[in-house]
Amino acid sequence: MTARIVATHRTPSASGRYRPAVGSTSEQIEAEVHRVGAELADAFPSPARHPMKALDARAMELAAADLEIRAALFRFVDVVPACRSMDDLARHLAGFLDELPDGPPPVLAAIKVADTRAGRAALGAAAAAGVKHMAHRFIVGETPGTAVPVLRRLWARGIASSVDLLGEATVTEPEADAYAARCADALRSLSAATARWPERPTLERDGSGGLARANVSVKVSALTPLLRPDAPELGERDAARRLAPLLREAKALGAHVHIDTESLDSREAVLGLVLALLTQEEFRDGPSTGIVLQAYMRDSPEQLDQILEWASAHERTPPPVIRLVKGAYWDHEVAEAGQHGWPVPVFEVKAECDRNFEALTRRLLAARPTVRVAIASHNLRSVAHAIAVNRSSGADDGDLELQVLRGLGDDLQDALAARGFRVRTYCPVGDLVAGMAYLVRRLLENTSNESFLHAQASGVPLDELLAPP
Ligand code: 2OP
Repeated sequence: MTARIVATHRTPSASGRYRPAVGSTSEQIEAEVHRVGAELADAFPSPARHPMKALDARAMELAAADLEIRAALFRFVDVVPACRSMDDLARHLAGFLDELPDGPPPVLAAIKVADTRAGRAALGAAAAAGVKHMAHRFIVGETPGTAVPVLRRLWARGIASSVDLLGEATVTEPEADAYAARCADALRSLSAATARWPERPTLERDGSGGLARANVSVKVSALTPLLRPDAPELGERDAARRLAPLLREAKALGAHVHIDTESLDSREAVLGLVLALLTQEEFRDGPSTGIVLQAYMRDSPEQLDQILEWASAHERTPPPVIRLVKGAYWDHEVAEAGQHGWPVPVFEVKAECDRNFEALTRRLLAARPTVRVAIASHNLRSVAHAIAVNRSSGADDGDLELQVLRGLGDDLQDALAARGFRVRTYCPVGDLVAGMAYLVRRLLENTSNESFLHAQASGVPLDELLAPP
């Protein structure tokens, strides 16, 4: 496949500085990966904030140390949607930790405390304090109104955002209605607020045209309680009646709606829903929308075939954004497959996942302008690789979006913005109960010994961090 971004699409380099031509042999691309990687590493804020410190040290120690705790934590997430308060959460968390065969002393003490009502309240308060501390770094505000000043400060520094309305795995219809109403409210208040922001050309235009300032990410599992792998059509229909009005609202406001991909059990329904809605006549010319491709899935190349086939058959203006991620449900997928005796659907060797991420990056970049591409990673190698491949295709830096998560990718975000790249930070908004599953995913994926941030924080030399996977 060849890049279809043509010279006439080019705007001045995003960084506005001279940039040598990049060849397209693998050696030339590797040289560029190292050059870009070193340049970004150089632009990391000094003294570097250690991303791993963003996670509460005690929680990290516990979670990283013990596979059983990791498993208990992620089983705990399954009951979070049914919890109404921190007290509820504390009781369930204690229950799950209670199942551990040889819990370390602090956990046993916590369980003991949780045996009494007063103890539970104390544990709830302690958990709430710890979680609040951790949440503060990952969640920008409880409501879009409180988040806006934070988002405006990011924008002023050359950083766009996508507001993730926290909430998932909804269990009742009224909750799904309430989530849809929160999304609509966020679209309206963000559109009103961002209209007053100063111009930031790098964040507002690429070779395909204008980019929305107001950008919201939603989870389909929060838009319907009926998402089930054995009856995907049911969930699809129920979610469609809440997602379609959101798309209409976004189109009227000129805002962007990104639909997140969650775990494998809902993937078919989510993709089916989104592609069916976007194929409808009324959505052919807007709003700007996006979907997510998870590189940790072994079948992600076939998923991409399906997406690209659809995108070429139904050309849309503006083109859909494909956000390439590694995937945030690794523990869930491995355990789910184990429980059912299914083959594990995700790569279990990190290097395989990283190689797949790069192969998908190359295919996505070559598929423009049918799609827009957002590369979402905290892995400096993956990001530098995307930039190098983009340059080798002759495209401008501004034709590639890079995305990070609030609280984990802050240093990379700052380095990318300082070097003039187009960067967007995924910014969760919501309360602690709604955000619990999100926080546990951050904890699980980032305490993994295989995490790039882990390697970076442990002082692995730059050349090693930038080596091909
Ligand atoms: C998650 O919710 C970032 O969408 C990803 O874990």
